[in-house]
Amino acid sequence: MAIKKKNSRSFFDAVVNKKTLHKNLEFTAVEQYKLLRANLSFTLPEGVKCPIIGVTSSMRGEGKSTTAINLSYVLAESGKSVLLIDGDLRIPSVAKKMDISSSPGLTDLLMGYESHQMGVFKTSLLENWYVMPSGDLPPNPSELLGSRRMESILRLAAEKFDYIIVDLPPVNVVSDALAISKYLTGMIVVIREDYTEKKELEACFRQLKLSNVNVLGCVMNEAENSNGTHSRYRKYSKYYRKYYTSSGTHQK
Ligand SMILES: Nc1ncnc2c1ncn2[C@@H]1O[C@H](COP(=O)(O)OP(=O)(O)O)[C@@H](O)[C@H]1O
Ligand SMILES: [Mg+2]
Repeated sequence: MAIKKKNSRSFFDAVVNKKTLHKNLEFTAVEQYKLLRANLSFTLPEGVKCPIIGVTSSMRGEGKSTTAINLSYVLAESGKSVLLIDGDLRIPSVAKKMDISSSPGLTDLLMGYESHQMGVFKTSLLENWYVMPSGDLPPNPSELLGSRRMESILRLAAEKFDYIIVDLPPVNVVSDALAISKYLTGMIVVIREDYTEKKELEACFRQLKLSNVNVLGCVMNEAENSNGTHSRYRKYSKYYRKYYTSSGTHQK
């Protein structure tokens, strides 16, 4: 498992093999999420006070929500104040996975609920871990996620937190992740070993590239172990490299 050099936008070789950490503190999974946390600090642009990180993938079921919950948890555990937002306003799962109420949530803020009332999203698990569920499902998620109101919610939250993680729907199914991407520092793409279709992954990177999204890196979910990193991941990583160079400069 290689930790990449500073600012290289290469794969986070994170190998994750259990469900959500707050319910299942399996040692290897914890270590892999911690590694993801460390790798993230190498790929984030310098000087951003509160990085806003989207988590997406090509299709449903690849582990976006699981990754978003666990990444936000390990960041909070390291002492940072972290807000996790369920930005999947079509099939939200954060509230269910965490066994909390799904409202009030993001759609309430989008509809005018005062966004300084962040206290309601504080979790009972960690002092500095805040989780904002989806709220009631709206008819127009893509418009809402790309709206100026969304931008101001994120900007206000960025003044209060050290990290914001946004769980998003898949890129190839709906335009929501692309719609909000202009307000994000960068995106993490989740790939599920032996599940993610290569052509779907290529389409996902193509879309992200076309929308000029800064892909911070990828998470290999449910990979069995970290040995033989390059041979195991090569089949997926070539699609990433096709659209994003390893030097981090955007290809034209
Ligand atoms: N590494 C893993 N090991 C075992 N089960 C997993 C793992 N990652 C995800 N799952 C399970 O797979 C299903 C889909 O994961 P989820 O995070 O909801 O995906 P997505 O948000 O991409 O649709 C969930 O039931 C989740 O608990
Ligand atoms: Mg999800």
